[in-house]
Amino acid sequence: MSELTSQVVSTPLAAVDAGLLAVAVAQGSSVPNSIAALDQAAGGVIGRALTSGDFKGKRDETSLLYPSGSGVKAQRLLLIGMGKSADVTRNSVRRAAGVAAKRGRALGAKQVAFTVAAEARTAVSARDLGQTAMEGAVQGAWAFTELKAAPEEPRAEVESFTIVCDAKEAKDVNAGLRIGQAIGAGHRLTRYLQMQPGNVCTPCYLADQAKRLADTHGFALTVLDLPGLKQEKMGALLAVAQGSVEEPRFIVLEHRGGGDTAPVVIVGKGVTFDAGGISIKPAQNMEDMKFDMSGAAAVLGTFEMLGRLKPKINVVGLIPSTENLLSGAALKPGDVIKSHSGKTIEIINTDAEGRLILCDALSYAKRYHPAAVVDAATLTGAVVVALGHVAIGMMGTNDALIAEIRDAGERAGERCWQLPLWDEYRDLLKSDVADVKNSAGRGAGTIAGGWFLREFVDNYPWVHLDIAGTAYTDSDAPYQTKGPTAVGVRLFSEFILKRAGGEVVA
Ligand code: BES
Ligand code: MN
Ligand code: ZN
Repeated sequence: MSELTSQVVSTPLAAVDAGLLAVAVAQGSSVPNSIAALDQAAGGVIGRALTSGDFKGKRDETSLLYPSGSGVKAQRLLLIGMGKSADVTRNSVRRAAGVAAKRGRALGAKQVAFTVAAEARTAVSARDLGQTAMEGAVQGAWAFTELKAAPEEPRAEVESFTIVCDAKEAKDVNAGLRIGQAIGAGHRLTRYLQMQPGNVCTPCYLADQAKRLADTHGFALTVLDLPGLKQEKMGALLAVAQGSVEEPRFIVLEHRGGGDTAPVVIVGKGVTFDAGGISIKPAQNMEDMKFDMSGAAAVLGTFEMLGRLKPKINVVGLIPSTENLLSGAALKPGDVIKSHSGKTIEIINTDAEGRLILCDALSYAKRYHPAAVVDAATLTGAVVVALGHVAIGMMGTNDALIAEIRDAGERAGERCWQLPLWDEYRDLLKSDVADVKNSAGRGAGTIAGGWFLREFVDNYPWVHLDIAGTAYTDSDAPYQTKGPTAVGVRLFSEFILKRAGGEVVA
């Protein structure tokens, strides 16, 4: 799917030329003043939808209208509900724009225009409107068709997305739009990478993607191959990789925008396929384990954003990448391995491989004397039991950083819920033969994963995000198609851009 072109215009709504003109409104039973002129030009079709009570403006509610006469230039109008005006946030705008783009795509409208009735968005600034509307449009318009010879139902893609706003707000909306475009580009790349099957997306493929990003945007890049990993003594990553014919890679991307200040390090789990190893997974839904590189994809998507905006901050991206397969050479339960940090690990379950490859990345991170380290990983099925597909499981060592990430997630519409790393849980990892074991009993599975990682965190503020429940979805929503969600890209972007002071060079 190609990039959406986008712009901000201040044309009267009735004069906006588009296949679909989407108008987001709050709950109510009369036409808001800001769209009264459009309603009049459309022959009162909006008023009738509202006063009849057919359209109430509830969240995600839509009404597709065909304006009569020639007063309205757009082919179709789509009313989109945002719920009560007092509850409208940036997330409501993002969601409504997602609904507009997704519906536009279904209708075959190449040009989608979008506006939010002024009465509905008193709590959202013009800049945030531009950013979140663009993010939502990218999310809603997305579809993955490239591996089909011929689409079942050929449809034109949404090619352009236009935000319509007041002339006095256009400059700020446009500034936000440019941030939204950069985050949207990252989002698109992440979903694309997530969607690639395991026979395409291998550790070497991820390294090639990092190379392409580095060449395009001028990042520093280091890729450790097999000899490099041995030299660096990445024993845990190597142990997971030893059962696979595909070679592992450790990818380091660096955006240097912050002079000699301490960097933020983002780490993404890059297991390109997780069969579980010798502790093999059941066959049911195993194909979804191609998504086990979603954390890595989010890191790469974040670098796409960084390359476009070039914020004044140093960011290091670390991606340990391997497959987790089984063979005569594979890691076995009972094996004891030595990690990059020097700590020894008793393998109880080879399916707890994410923590193994991440622990080497976390001890590698120490050399940067980081200001903060945040990892994103599809780490445990248990996080789905705890939080479903709604929230990211969050753990960490530093209350200020935890609060900062929670806040970034809130702004991004990628909410995080904290789980405790109390000392009592450390006992779950006690091993009789090694410093730690890689898997505990039945209870507190997500916390055990977090505690394991914490063992390798040395002297820097750290937050772990378990995205196993949020990285992909099996159900369509009005604002997004089922499949990968690119979770993490918006959260990382909000976090990094806020730390950089909101100033972007591009
Ligand atoms: N990649 C899985 C976690 C996962 C599960 C991601 C479901 C997405 C959806 C991870 O490597 C894993 O297998 N975790 C084990 C840990 C256990 C063996 C301690 C799990 O959750 O069962
Ligand atoms: Mn696993
Ligand atoms: Zn895994």
